[in-house]
Amino acid sequence: MTQRYELSDLIRTDNFIDGKWMPAASGKRFAVTDPATGEVIARVADSGPADARAATDAAARAFPAWRDTLPKDRAAVLHRWHASIVENADALGRLISLEQGKPFAEGRGEVMYGASYVKWFADEATRIYGDIIPQQQRGKRMSAVKEPVGIVAAITPWNFPLAMIARKIAPALAAGCTVIGKPAEDTPLTALALVMLANDACVPAGALNLISASRDNAQEAVADWLEDGRVRKITFTGSTPVGKYLARESAGTLKKVSLELGGNAPFIVFDDADLDAAVAGLMASKFRNGGQTCVCPNRVYVQSSIYDRFADLLAKRVCALKVAPATDLDAQIGPMINARAVEKIERHVNDAVKRGARVLTGGKRRSELGANYYAPTVLADATPDMQLSCEETFGPVVPLFRFDDEAEAIHAANNTPFGLASYFYSQDLRRIDRVSRLLEAGLVGINEGAISSEAAPFGGVKESGYGREGSKYGLDDYLSIKYLCQGGLE
Ligand code: SIN
Repeated sequence: MTQRYELSDLIRTDNFIDGKWMPAASGKRFAVTDPATGEVIARVADSGPADARAATDAAARAFPAWRDTLPKDRAAVLHRWHASIVENADALGRLISLEQGKPFAEGRGEVMYGASYVKWFADEATRIYGDIIPQQQRGKRMSAVKEPVGIVAAITPWNFPLAMIARKIAPALAAGCTVIGKPAEDTPLTALALVMLANDACVPAGALNLISASRDNAQEAVADWLEDGRVRKITFTGSTPVGKYLARESAGTLKKVSLELGGNAPFIVFDDADLDAAVAGLMASKFRNGGQTCVCPNRVYVQSSIYDRFADLLAKRVCALKVAPATDLDAQIGPMINARAVEKIERHVNDAVKRGARVLTGGKRRSELGANYYAPTVLADATPDMQLSCEETFGPVVPLFRFDDEAEAIHAANNTPFGLASYFYSQDLRRIDRVSRLLEAGLVGINEGAISSEAAPFGGVKESGYGREGSKYGLDDYLSIKYLCQGGLE
């Protein structure tokens, strides 16, 4: 029987190590605040290397038994965890809204999105096949089997505090790995609640461990995992500089690494597109989580002949968005995560305006609502020399660039070190085929703004990282292939 909790029951403030809740070894704590009001919600464990080491020790002890648990029994545990997440979707959705700021409908939506990965990988646990290799020599039998890589360290971001950690823990456990995790310092509570539900679902002690750490201590705690040869894999979602640091530092023990890093997604609207559909797709994809999503379009390229019409349609829709705290059930855009996030948005918009961009709507803070609110913004006449053309803004700002022909649009779209998502709208089938081949990105939305799914491979190319999450490929990162060669059979 799956238990249903109130929001207050889900708030956990200690680390979860070896099946037990425990404070940081130092006894230190740090505050988690509501980005809508700045009020402290809870004070959680501020972990250091000793806590990181204790988590690894527990994961190492639990590994042999979890690895040897039958896949159908691992699947049953994950199915119970999935049922518990779904049962508690309202309370978890409210917790996400509280610590991350997204509107409740989106918070609840994220719960169901994260849960879909748990269910997907519960099913995939029972489908980890190997191969019998066609015979090469008489008297020898050759085969390839897949084995869990070992202890997996999962380091996750604040923008999807439930979905991102769920889609790392679920495949790791499904594969037979044990997990040590650290959520972002802005949003540890949702991850801790998720672990509490995993414990209810009978994930064995030590198979799943989670520590929280403040910005000041996180690097030192994680360094312990990077140096520890028992940790065989790092999976990270977050910024490109941190991803590069993790890849560099884990090279000392040659860990398997998968990185889902920043994007700078282009969104191209060709003159043969259905303009209403393109505006709707852009709204759905750009304003998800207030623009704080790695796959959000960051640069919108519109063909010259339709530029003014598109800009006009878009600005009307953006101007009508309701900015409010998540407690307002009609809110469409919540607060940004913290003061640094708002400062970056402001810097990008001011720089663009200084270089000639026109503000069609927004372009300023919404200080009357609180310190972390920024108005949804559309900027016309964006140009490549602007900061927002090269760096992810990670906020509710749409810069509109103008282009004349297809080659120019593709060149501009690819003219970035990043390659996570890209989008384009066109009704010409030959163009659809050409452009989807030429875009340098791990994900391409074609006449579609909502592209994420547990059944699809999520991940980037270039400096947006490597590895894939979700889909039938999502388990590969947690498995290694062992070749068996049996001789003397003649
Ligand atoms: C992200 O922003 O990193 C993830 C978004 C998604 O899964 O759609």
